[in-house]
Amino acid sequence: MTFPNNFVWGAASSAYQIEGAWNTDGRGESVWDTMCHARPSVGGPVNKFPQPAIWNGHTGDVACDHYHRSSEDVAIMKSIGLKAYRFSISWSRVLPDGIGSINTKGLDFYDRLVNELLAAGITPYTTLFHWDYPETLFRKGGWLNRDSVQWFAEFAQVVADRLGDRVKHWMTLNEPQVFLQFGHGDGHNAPRLRLGTRELLLACHHALMSHGRGVQVLRARCKGPQQVGYAPVCVTKYPFTDSKEDQAAAMQVMASLEDHNIWCNTWYNDAIFFGRYPEDGLRRFGADAPKPAAGDMELISQKCDFIGVNIYEGAPVRMRDGKPELVTREPTHPLTAYRWPVEPKSLYWGPKFIHERYKIPVYITENGLSCVDWVSMDGRVHDPQRIDFTRRYLLELRRAVTDGVDLRGYFHWSILDNFEWNEGYKERFGLVHVDFTTLKRTVKDSARWYGNVISTNGKSLDEDPFTRAW
Ligand code: FCB
Repeated sequence: MTFPNNFVWGAASSAYQIEGAWNTDGRGESVWDTMCHARPSVGGPVNKFPQPAIWNGHTGDVACDHYHRSSEDVAIMKSIGLKAYRFSISWSRVLPDGIGSINTKGLDFYDRLVNELLAAGITPYTTLFHWDYPETLFRKGGWLNRDSVQWFAEFAQVVADRLGDRVKHWMTLNEPQVFLQFGHGDGHNAPRLRLGTRELLLACHHALMSHGRGVQVLRARCKGPQQVGYAPVCVTKYPFTDSKEDQAAAMQVMASLEDHNIWCNTWYNDAIFFGRYPEDGLRRFGADAPKPAAGDMELISQKCDFIGVNIYEGAPVRMRDGKPELVTREPTHPLTAYRWPVEPKSLYWGPKFIHERYKIPVYITENGLSCVDWVSMDGRVHDPQRIDFTRRYLLELRRAVTDGVDLRGYFHWSILDNFEWNEGYKERFGLVHVDFTTLKRTVKDSARWYGNVISTNGKSLDEDPFTRAW
């Protein structure tokens, strides 16, 4: 069995996590620069925050130095056989203050990258915003300021005007759940705010409006037909057993707001695809819910061509006395190096839920795992767990396709080992190993295995990957 003919096989990255060159060629700073440079984790407890900022005081200053090595990286992607590459634009590289004067050299970088990708036969999938908010705009209130909608529109326009003749696939925002809940609610990620619910929801409202303005601007400024969407987390649950009741329980939980403020699916997706916030959320938030001005919800719900979902894990749910209930995993349940549970079924139930509720084409825009990888004495990186994990997940994805879910593509996270936010360089998610001292790249076994999956359009998933050396 294979995947549909035009299924898009790719890998993903984001600007701050791989580019480095943090102060090169006129780049401005983002909230992640600020957070990394504060280095509060070195030497003990951190101000008023419970967690240390970044593991071992790592920063994205150099990261994979992709800014200077993009040609080498594109050549590696080509050698693996990738059909598509998802990357994001560093807002403060192209607009150092977030708005106003344009940094041509920053734009030149993405211009070259796109040309190199196209020359290598790799389709660019571009995300406008993957968390690295310009510091200058943050100081003007960031997402809390209603002007942020216009700031984002300006950014979208600058990028669309330069790349929109060649880039045909766009995502406005990556994982609003994470940059809002973790960055503005829990104080864990940059910009480390701990807003109350009302302010958090206001920031979210502006981010959703920015998405809508972004869609409008991309449609108005890009040349030729484009496909526009966004890439939220899909907070995934799956039925504990095959019973109809457990299936209904899993679907019900995915369609509701969980306890943790806005770590959910519907607050974002219902707003974007239905033009209204979900009833259960409005009930829960009460007076703290945003009061949309006339036209806000219309702006948020601009028509999208697809949704990208990022899925790494899921949790089992069952029906108990007519109510859904989370099931505790066995202590022996497999975990990745990051200690995230291995949950292949999430790649069946996540996209199925999204497709059934929103009736829109779906891409998996991120999926993968971190492993404890190193270069062996034979010079290779043997990562059987990445192969096994990805095979299990892709088999579930294929089952979703067979059952009629309109899946258009899969992007493995990530092409390169990179700066994993608060975990620094500790978590290695790449298909390609990076030595962060020498910056040498080594293609891992999993990348060659994945190349084989791509060239057989998924048929080789039926073969035991461990009967041969990669
Ligand atoms: C996702 C992020 C991505 C990466 C992976 C591991 O939440 O979008 O940047 O950090 O997790």
